[in-house]
Amino acid sequence: MQPEMGQQLALVLCLLIACVDSQYISGPESCQLQHKGNNTKFPKEFAFGVATAAYQIEGAWNADGKGPSIWDTYTHIHPDRIADHSNGDNAAESYYRFAQDLVALKELKVDFYRFSISWSRVLPRADTTVQNQKAIAYYNMVINKLLENNIEPMVTMYHYDMPDELTKFGGFTNEIMIKYFRYYADFLFKTFGDRVKKWITFNEPFDYCMQGYGNAESPPIVHAPGVADYLCMDNTLRAHATAYRLYKAKYASSQGGKVGITISSRFYYTSTKYFGSDEVVDRAMQYALGWLAHPIYGASGNYPYTIIEDILSNSVKEGLAWTRLRPFNKYWTEILKGSGDFLGLNYYTSRFVKMSYPAEGEIPSWEHDSGLKYLIDKNWKRAKSKWLYCVPQGLEDILKWIRDNYNNVEVYITENGWSDDGALNDTDRVTYLKSHLQAVLNAINDGCNVTHYSHWSLIDNFEWNMGFTEKFGLYYLNMTSENKERVAKKSAHYYRSVIESRKIPSSDKFV
Ligand SMILES: *[C@@H]1O[C@H](CO)[C@@H](O)[C@H](O)[C@H]1NC(C)=O
Ligand SMILES: *[C@@H]1O[C@H](CO)[C@@H](O)[C@H](O)[C@H]1NC(C)=O
Ligand SMILES: *[C@@H]1O[C@H](CO)[C@@H](O)[C@H](O)[C@H]1NC(C)=O
Ligand SMILES: *[C@@H]1O[C@H](CO)[C@@H](O)[C@H](O)[C@H]1NC(C)=O
Repeated sequence: MQPEMGQQLALVLCLLIACVDSQYISGPESCQLQHKGNNTKFPKEFAFGVATAAYQIEGAWNADGKGPSIWDTYTHIHPDRIADHSNGDNAAESYYRFAQDLVALKELKVDFYRFSISWSRVLPRADTTVQNQKAIAYYNMVINKLLENNIEPMVTMYHYDMPDELTKFGGFTNEIMIKYFRYYADFLFKTFGDRVKKWITFNEPFDYCMQGYGNAESPPIVHAPGVADYLCMDNTLRAHATAYRLYKAKYASSQGGKVGITISSRFYYTSTKYFGSDEVVDRAMQYALGWLAHPIYGASGNYPYTIIEDILSNSVKEGLAWTRLRPFNKYWTEILKGSGDFLGLNYYTSRFVKMSYPAEGEIPSWEHDSGLKYLIDKNWKRAKSKWLYCVPQGLEDILKWIRDNYNNVEVYITENGWSDDGALNDTDRVTYLKSHLQAVLNAINDGCNVTHYSHWSLIDNFEWNMGFTEKFGLYYLNMTSENKERVAKKSAHYYRSVIESRKIPSSDKFV
């Protein structure tokens, strides 16, 4: 009830000081961060890398026996849903041009390369009945070349591109997905695990579940918010934990690798000047990071208590005889609890948050269940992507939140990046990179167990529904030339100097 009173007070204050635009909360200009703590150097063992994903760079969508993924089918049937009507049929052609990617990786001097394996390339029918030898040879080549050059492979097993085959029986809403993923994971560990020691089961489940099964913005375009998106996250969590347990039982002792999951989250702030409280921040964090992180890294092996309670009570209010969010039973809480050797974090931006009375959004939906409303600061610098504002403080604060809530679990920052039009003189990306590395160093100086940083992305690539209109690369991709050259942007030179010195150099000489 407190937030409601705060809101009224804020409204009165607002009228008194003539707030013209209530959508915005003003604050200090960001995209800068002061150094805090004793060390100005990253620890010796801290690892720097870059990240990509199969569908966004590989091209060769139907080459050498590859089966279609939901992104192939979706972009072919619905070009109108992609900003520039493009698709990933060719993209950077990394399936044919890994040698060019490797040149860039060596130039950057990265310690590791995070890439994803296309499930339907290696197993075109999704199950293990057909194993595509040419695809296996391709990924073997990638892994071996990386290792020859002292670059550690970090492999994402699933990055949005579900084999199309699986949509025939409901994809992630069908719990048979757990079995399919288990056998896919077993195949990957057996085939590549002698050389790959860092595995990420799923990339950003919240995003592919909400967009694929909730608001229908992405394939498989199911519109069933508050039900199918929750089922998708439920089955993803159980598939993840099953693969983790399989690795521990069958491969960990001989291969000695680590298995985790990558979760995307923003950090949330309330303005003390206006409405909100720490409780609201905690609530927003539970509805974002906590939904997926709490069952794995928390003490209960289950969803955050608040979420279980809210959705049960909303389900009853809506007239249902059951809850739309099934809590895990004892069998599953045991399997889920502790099923991650590290937490992979994708951090891009933050928001202000407040309670909304009455709750907004469709009934039912995640938006309605949470009752939260998000705001931005008009002084925040915005990228080409309309959702992406530069808030480096949010990265420092989310790392501290993880430290305090999940027993200082080891964190790999698996993505962090900035979009623009693709200019080689990308000074805004340099500024973003510099301030976010400062956030990581500040967090390390404050005892956070963060050991890897991976920038999104190595090269400009197919940015899902935004096609090629938003560029995230440290390397420009020349789409019009026959050889699709990768050209270092200013940010690539800056990042290389960070990796070489293990320090955060002034960006001035790069501007
Ligand atoms: C930084 O160094 C000072 C002086 O050596 C020491 O007193 C302080 O505890 C250190 N702070 C941290 C966060 O390590
Ligand atoms: C960081 O994480 C690793 C791996 O989980 C763990 O062994 C180590 O104790 C953690 N470090 C701290 C300072 O908590
Ligand atoms: C790069 O952009 C910055 C800021 O927009 C500008 O000051 C600088 O002169 C540019 N450098 C080159 C080489 O064009
Ligand atoms: C892209 O390639 C075309 C054709 O080879 C060339 O004319 C152009 O200068 C290249 N652009 C960049 C930025 O390298």
